[in-house]
Amino acid sequence: MVIETEQDVTPAVLAAMANTPDARLREVMASLVRHLHAFAREVKLTEPEWERGIEFLIGLGKLTNDSHNEAILASDAIGFSTLVCLLNNGTVGDSETAAALLGPFWRLNAPKTESGASIVRSPTPGPALFADCRLRDNSGQPIAGAYVDVWHASPVGMYENQDAGQADMNLRGNFITDAEGRFSFRSVKPAGYPVPVSGPVGALLAAQRRHPYRPAHLHFLFHKPGYKTLITQVFVQGDPHLESDVVFGVTKPLIGDYRLRRDTPPASDVSGEWYSLEHEFIMEPGEAVLPNPPIK
Ligand code: BEZ
Ligand code: FE
Repeated sequence: MVIETEQDVTPAVLAAMANTPDARLREVMASLVRHLHAFAREVKLTEPEWERGIEFLIGLGKLTNDSHNEAILASDAIGFSTLVCLLNNGTVGDSETAAALLGPFWRLNAPKTESGASIVRSPTPGPALFADCRLRDNSGQPIAGAYVDVWHASPVGMYENQDAGQADMNLRGNFITDAEGRFSFRSVKPAGYPVPVSGPVGALLAAQRRHPYRPAHLHFLFHKPGYKTLITQVFVQGDPHLESDVVFGVTKPLIGDYRLRRDTPPASDVSGEWYSLEHEFIMEPGEAVLPNPPIK
């Protein structure tokens, strides 16, 4: 088809793609083209703005490598990652879910750790945290023998791979749930932190007068055949950024009961205040697929 006016472009592109044999690819691309063309018409996109958008995408690619994923960060910062997460978890988006973003800092092969042991692998000043967790199915039965990965930022808001002062795999560990679905561990209370702002996503946040902070949280990944892999985060209640998480990751069920304690701590080397966290996780039936690690 020879194009005569701007109105002809959208139907021409849709017709060109209409014979895509993969039905899902056909559906997704047709919808993407319709919405993208409608967006350009709605804002009357100028040529310099189109060029700026392409430069932004190129910037995402240039900054993405084995240790940093700027493309996922861009998706996170406009709420797209959380939208996709909520559409795909919790009875297909109809109910609350315990799932949350994987984030860019999950690593495969965290050290295997006995339940109750510490995941602090190099001196990490900060308030001691003792977490006691349970994993259940949606009828309340314990899930035993599940693989659990835990990872989090330090009390100064740095993951070990961002911080030469921390040992490899500090504040990371994997556990197996016991017959009652339980696992517990000792760590230090995490702090909130800014997402990386040295690339195009940081420039966009600055242009939008947005802060780059995530509220303090622990990350968890649960894996067991027969259950949908549960990727989630448990946020510290009272964190000043709970309602303005830069990646829109906070939902009510994910706010944890981190309790400030002054009674006798569970370990003799803890003095003064410490924190406890009790949390229950629920896995839905489904396929146990591990995500691709965003970093090595
Ligand atoms: C995280 O929680 O690790 C995270 C998630 C999205 C963007 C940046 C960090
Ligand atoms: Fe995180």
